Amino acid sequence: MHKFESFLLENLPTSNSIHPTYEKALQEMLVAGGKRFRPALLLGVVKAFNPLMLDGARHAAYAVELLHTYSLIHDDLPAMDDSPLRRGKPTLHVVYDEVTAILTGDALNTYSFEVLSKAPFSDYTRIQLIKELASNGGLNGMVLGQAIDCYFENTPLSIEDVKVLHTNKTAKLIAASLKMGAIIVGQEKLGEKLYEFGIKLGLLFQIQDDILDVTQSSAEAGKLTGNDEDKNSFVTLIGLDETMREANTLADELEDELSNFDENLKKELSSLLTKYINRHRN
Ligand code: IPE
Ligand code: IPE
Ligand code: MG
Ligand code: MG
Ligand code: MG
Repeated sequence: MHKFESFLLENLPTSNSIHPTYEKALQEMLVAGGKRFRPALLLGVVKAFNPLMLDGARHAAYAVELLHTYSLIHDDLPAMDDSPLRRGKPTLHVVYDEVTAILTGDALNTYSFEVLSKAPFSDYTRIQLIKELASNGGLNGMVLGQAIDCYFENTPLSIEDVKVLHTNKTAKLIAASLKMGAIIVGQEKLGEKLYEFGIKLGLLFQIQDDILDVTQSSAEAGKLTGNDEDKNSFVTLIGLDETMREANTLADELEDELSNFDENLKKELSSLLTKYINRHRN
């Protein structure tokens, strides 16, 4: 992944304008780091089928990370989760102001599609990638999930509805990352299967995030924890023990599915997936 980090640093959003802090704000949360889980999934699939396409695929992985980073900046806004810390750094609305954080998020969102539109693939592949990122990261994906998450604060939902919430706000973008890797290497059928796997993986990822909100300190997480009390999180609804059992069941199912992956996919993705599938157990 160090090549992805260099690619990101070489392709940061830039802007020459009279605005004194705009460009710095655009770059700040991107360079702050993060796990880069979604890019790693996308690049893992590409590496498994056609390592020669990795250079091009970094454009797509970067686009996903741009959209994800925008979602975090908006997620932390006072109107949403009101969080002062992200990726170990003060959030943009704290360092600058709310206007800057809102507009930075807007800019990274649209820039992600600009990056995809210029990626070194055929027109067909580029359109497929844009469609995948838009449909999973937008109005019937991440944004819908965030809308449900915020609307139903302090209003307990059924656990089935929370699964729908988590699927939208988190799982669809994770699933799309795997599928975009498959689209790049022309494995569209496999892309559908990986998408289904990714939905389950993403649901587990968000359940783990709900667990970490109560088990990790803000310093450990690099973001404000203990912040989900008003939320429809697995932990607030069914408690930590039951949530751990749910996570274990999903993790076992995913381990099982992973063991049936093609050998080349297993070779590239096993260690990454095993690490994340078991994140709540560490
Ligand atoms: C945080 O995502 C938001 C969720 C969907 C849980 P990550 O946990 O991937 O955040 P970074 O990218 O590592 O900062
Ligand atoms: C946010 O979920 C998911 C996004 C789409 C950003 P959370 O609100 O639980 O994410 P964290 O815990 O702030 O990273
Ligand atoms: Mg949130
Ligand atoms: Mg949040
Ligand atoms: Mg959280």
